[in-house]
Amino acid sequence: MIAVCPGSFDPVTYGHLDVIERATRLFGEVVVAVGDNHGKQYLIARDERVGLIARATAGMPGVGVQAMTGLLADFCRRVGATIIVKGVRFASDFDYELQMAHVNGAIGGVETVLLPASREWGTISSTFVRDVARHGGDVSAFVPAEVAAALRRKPDPGGADG
Ligand code: PNS
Repeated sequence: MIAVCPGSFDPVTYGHLDVIERATRLFGEVVVAVGDNHGKQYLIARDERVGLIARATAGMPGVGVQAMTGLLADFCRRVGATIIVKGVRFASDFDYELQMAHVNGAIGGVETVLLPASREWGTISSTFVRDVARHGGDVSAFVPAEVAAALRRKPDPGGADG
């Protein structure tokens, strides 16, 4: 069964990677869909995000990474996926994900599975990672080394939330 793990991943964190890895154990094959949320500015360009995730998941069998434009429901149809997997940390995540799940179910007939964030990564967010990086802090506890290095190269790691 093919599942899609969608997100903006600006940047990808160990929390995202944990959800992707658990999704492969549940569904066998996972396509990570790297998209842009309309109206947001991203710190890392989409193609660079795709490369960072591809290398961070290189050791995970069954994982592919693609850039996504357009609707997530159309992307799922194109790659033959019937399931979307998202991680949820707190109630505010759930409120947002529930709306997305209903929209994607209505327009694409695709089912969404919400995975609770694991205890270790339950509060980590790309927003806070960017903020620590912006102030020159060490983000190596939250992201792979190559991602930390990519953040250090950015002039001002502000970006969008996520
Ligand atoms: O959780 P994120 O990082 O905000 O997710 C961003 C993304 C790109 C996955 C999301 O905005 C998305 O699915 N965009 C595609 C457009 C779409 O399908 N919109 C309708 C369903 S909400």
